[in-house]
Amino acid sequence: MTTPIYYVNAEPHIGHAYSTIVADTLNRFYQCLGYTTRLQTGTDEHGEKVVQAAQKEGLEPKEYADRISDFFRRIWPELNIYPDRFIRTTDADHIRVVTHILNKVYAGGDIYFSEYEGQYCLGCERFYTERELVNGLCPDHQAKPTLVKEANYFFRMSAYQDWLIDHIKKNPDFIRPERYRNETLSFLSEPLEDLCISRPKSRLSWGIPLPFDTNYVTYVWIDALINYLSGLGFPEGNLFPRFWPSAQHIIAKDILKPHGIFWPIMLKAAGVEPYQHLNVHGYWNIEQTKISKTLGNVVRPKELIDQFGTDGVRYFFLREMVFGLDAHFSEEAMIQRINADLANNLGNCFSRSLAMIEKYCSGIVPEPDEIGPAEEDLKNHTLQVQETVKTEPQRLAFHKALMSLWELIDEINKYIDTQAPWTLAKDPGKKPRLMTVLYTLAETLRQISLLLFPFMPQTSIRMRQQLGMGVKEGAPVWAETMTWGSFSPGTHIQKGPALFPRIEKGITKMNSITQSQKAATVSSFAALPFEEFQKWDLRVAKVLTAERVPKSKKLLKIEIDLGEKRTLVAGIGQDYTPEDLTGKEIVVVANLEPTKLMGVESQAMLLAARDEKGLKLIVPDGEILPGTRVK
Ligand code: MSP
Repeated sequence: MTTPIYYVNAEPHIGHAYSTIVADTLNRFYQCLGYTTRLQTGTDEHGEKVVQAAQKEGLEPKEYADRISDFFRRIWPELNIYPDRFIRTTDADHIRVVTHILNKVYAGGDIYFSEYEGQYCLGCERFYTERELVNGLCPDHQAKPTLVKEANYFFRMSAYQDWLIDHIKKNPDFIRPERYRNETLSFLSEPLEDLCISRPKSRLSWGIPLPFDTNYVTYVWIDALINYLSGLGFPEGNLFPRFWPSAQHIIAKDILKPHGIFWPIMLKAAGVEPYQHLNVHGYWNIEQTKISKTLGNVVRPKELIDQFGTDGVRYFFLREMVFGLDAHFSEEAMIQRINADLANNLGNCFSRSLAMIEKYCSGIVPEPDEIGPAEEDLKNHTLQVQETVKTEPQRLAFHKALMSLWELIDEINKYIDTQAPWTLAKDPGKKPRLMTVLYTLAETLRQISLLLFPFMPQTSIRMRQQLGMGVKEGAPVWAETMTWGSFSPGTHIQKGPALFPRIEKGITKMNSITQSQKAATVSSFAALPFEEFQKWDLRVAKVLTAERVPKSKKLLKIEIDLGEKRTLVAGIGQDYTPEDLTGKEIVVVANLEPTKLMGVESQAMLLAARDEKGLKLIVPDGEILPGTRVK
């Protein structure tokens, strides 16, 4: 399972996050079906755009690429995504594979040298034919291309056009959904022009040198596409033979042409079988516009994760987009989905079921008595949902899988209401019936917890923990776990905190610090859900200056560097002198509502601990860049 490798000229945004969430979900899904899987992602680091972005920052391209690549590498675990390989196109093994493929295609006679004049879009880093331009502009960047004339190496794509048409026709789901297959066939209905695969070093040196002419570097798209092979160690080792026959690429429609046309043809020319599926999704738009750095409407995944939790974000994206079509992102829609589907439906259903098992069965999953028609219905519905969840993601219809799960959750809620365990509990003669109802609830929730794994892994684990099931590392293999009725009576449940705290409208403005802070203090002594902890913005700060607040024995006014300058007031004046503090690194809570202490505004709170010997500041174990987040 692969994602595009993302350009390092911009930080990750939710568009990138979506493709990567989809790849991870599919990867986990196939693990649940019992397959061994592999997930690859990475960064695309060569080319003119990166050189320009680096220049703007006054950095060398590699330094710049290191920095942005790291943002990508670090964001995925926050979404519970752990790729098996994170490929950088500056990695030595990738460069070796690109060289290998180029040599092979060159030796096969499919690369030739020629003079070319054409319209070049810098944004896309490619030549456009007149036919492809819309009103003389690049359709993607709405920018006028530049007329460029130079001698370059070309790849004879035209030689493989008929082969590709045939391959797409013989393999109806090679490119899917169908609209993108049709779009590709429509590109192919016109003669293919050969592809310029080099850039003269005199114009661009930031790239992989062509092995047969070191005056040129490789066109960035050729370099980038090959990542899918280099990530598998091609041509050596056993990863390539093992995984390539079932390779699935996940991309958005913006890069259909390189993936649907250039790439299969390159593979064919290099003597490699094509990938199995190209899965193409639409765009996430904000107010009808595609998200882009240039348009300044980027939503960073980190902000969403901090506010809505990993699984809130994963759920929203998978549930809201019909794979293949565009979808709209808004914070309001996100809050609504999370509150309605997660906090209310799933969250309530789960917590009230567990509360009843606690109350009426001392927290032990009971032995069911005879089952009646209501249980039979719920069981049949669950088995249908199993089928849907096992099949729809294979067609990329994640929203359908989730919809069917939520229909089942509605059904459970109705079952609880109609069976009314609280009424059964009042009549000792109805005890066997009560046990049957509670067992059926526990078993249905167990099934849901297992089926949720690909989409919301953390929630799946939390549910299974609270249900008292042993949770093994990795994906639950459904064929081994999904037999109806295999929840062992006698299991001790361990009811924990709510799965999803309701999101109050007031706290939703991103970066709205004060309100979310209030929400965080509500559950003071209950076990704190991780999402709540994430609301605390703890940071390393460096003390710039400190002085006593006049007329106060205890209060010190401290100027800190937090990445930005702030003032805080702390009651530590009997334990520390201003001189002790200057230059020291400390840890502060950076998102507290400001407060005034003896007339001085305090904009952060430092962390310290006191025992009988006195007060000690909490400090980092070594030097850390001021402003770094504490986790
Ligand atoms: N570097 C190339 C890809 C090379 S792959 C061999 C590239 N990088 S990119 O950073 O621009 O990423 C494009 C991809 O990011 C899209 O194909 C899609 O997967 C994702 N998205 C970026 N913006 C998006 C939206 N607004 N909506 C959905 N996905 C989007 O192209």
